[in-house]
Amino acid sequence: MSYDVIVIGSGPGGYSAAVRAGQYGLKTAIIEKDPKLGGCCLHVGCIPTKALLHTAEIWQHFVHGPEEGILCENPRLDYPKVIDRKQKIVDKHAKGVEFLMKKQKVDVFRGYARLLGKGKVEFSGEKGKQVVEGRNIIVATGSEARMLPGLQPDPDVILTNIEILNLRSVPKTLIVIGAGAVGVEFASIFHRFGTKVTILEMLPRLVPVEDEDVSKELERFFRKTGIRCETGAKAENIEKTAAGAKLSVTLASGKTETLEAEKLLVAVGRKPNTDGIGLENTRIATDRGFIKVNGMQQTTEPGVYAIGDIVAGTPQLAHVATAEGMVAVAHIAGKSPVPIHKNRIPGVTYTEPGIGSAGLTEAQAKAQGYKVKIGKFPFAANSKASIVGMHDGFVKVVVEEKFGEILGVHIIGYHAYELIAEAVAAMESESTADTMMRTIHAHPTLYEAVGEAFNAVYGLAINA
Ligand code: NAI
Repeated sequence: MSYDVIVIGSGPGGYSAAVRAGQYGLKTAIIEKDPKLGGCCLHVGCIPTKALLHTAEIWQHFVHGPEEGILCENPRLDYPKVIDRKQKIVDKHAKGVEFLMKKQKVDVFRGYARLLGKGKVEFSGEKGKQVVEGRNIIVATGSEARMLPGLQPDPDVILTNIEILNLRSVPKTLIVIGAGAVGVEFASIFHRFGTKVTILEMLPRLVPVEDEDVSKELERFFRKTGIRCETGAKAENIEKTAAGAKLSVTLASGKTETLEAEKLLVAVGRKPNTDGIGLENTRIATDRGFIKVNGMQQTTEPGVYAIGDIVAGTPQLAHVATAEGMVAVAHIAGKSPVPIHKNRIPGVTYTEPGIGSAGLTEAQAKAQGYKVKIGKFPFAANSKASIVGMHDGFVKVVVEEKFGEILGVHIIGYHAYELIAEAVAAMESESTADTMMRTIHAHPTLYEAVGEAFNAVYGLAINA
């Protein structure tokens, strides 16, 4: 069979690209190795973790209910039900993706796909080996959790983002290795469910990709609420024991300690799924397993595009995969898409307090030679933050000194991952600090803090 577009992989990058190709009237097929469409994000990533985080937040309100004047006798957490609810949300959306394929007349094939070169893709599905041909191919095969050497994940003790989502009870103790988004989000979820959490990070700070001030604030909050954070820490000799897992850790101080916990989460990054997909049959150039592309998402093999976690040089985020898919399909359809702008990608981490950021950190901006001005506004001075009872965090804006260009916005605070939207829209429309100072922010809202931070650049914040 022959298609205008064949998409390999049905994560947020792949399925969205297939939908858009259908909308443009292109004859489209999608090939997925797993029984359900939706990829890691839907089944074992963004959606299930955020479902658990939502429950963790509600549970916190019950735990701290008396402070708000709400008295509940003996509230209990029915954890199996929490997991079932999460699964219902996932299943509902997986059906939604199937529906979207039907709506856009996209042919769905199940099987592990391999590029054969010259526009051909082979996959082995229910009917054995099949070959389909495409004028264009979009590779969107995603990534999987990286493991530490010598370790194998299992459903009970050594966990990745997959196994930890299906525990049937809340562990008493948890060690998390890696303080990137996966590590800090699960630390934050289980801490709120009552687990004693220790987080070990090899680099000198938590969430190392964020602005340094954000890392400091998250660590301060984590410590204040009882999460043990060890940065500059090296974990070794990890082994399973009768009670769970044991490891020795060399702390930043040089001291060595033995740690034990019921569960161990390994969250040390993700590797691209580019092995075994037939790259050797093409001229696709790679860099350490990641596929090299140009601004239109074209690989070095004519007619083959790559999007999402397998692409070299872009962050591994669902919304980046989707945006890259839109560029690839628009290019295939003969439109003139604008390449994704790497400095206008929202980064969102669903901890308590949450993190939302876009653009350059203060250190990055200075390293790139910008003369910068900084504006900072604390949520301690924001009335809505008082109302929701979450005073920690701040908005920090990094602005170019002469013209007020917005170089970066870094928010840590209650629901910061929603608040970053305004900053991204401002940056995409090339607003300046001056525009943001004049923008009227509703009162009382959390996002007033964004307006105040821009005023703070010039010492003009009203409430601090
Ligand atoms: P990551 O690469 O963001 O973080 C891994 C962390 O582990 C790094 O800080 C690294 O220094 C540390 N590390 C590596 N080896 C270590 C070792 N041996 N001992 C101690 N620390 C070690 O990877 P992560 O958190 O697994 O996330 C993978 C991808 O998924 C990231 O690109 C992330 O942004 C994305 N993601 C996004 C989310 C969101 O948008 N809310 C949620 C979860 C993941």
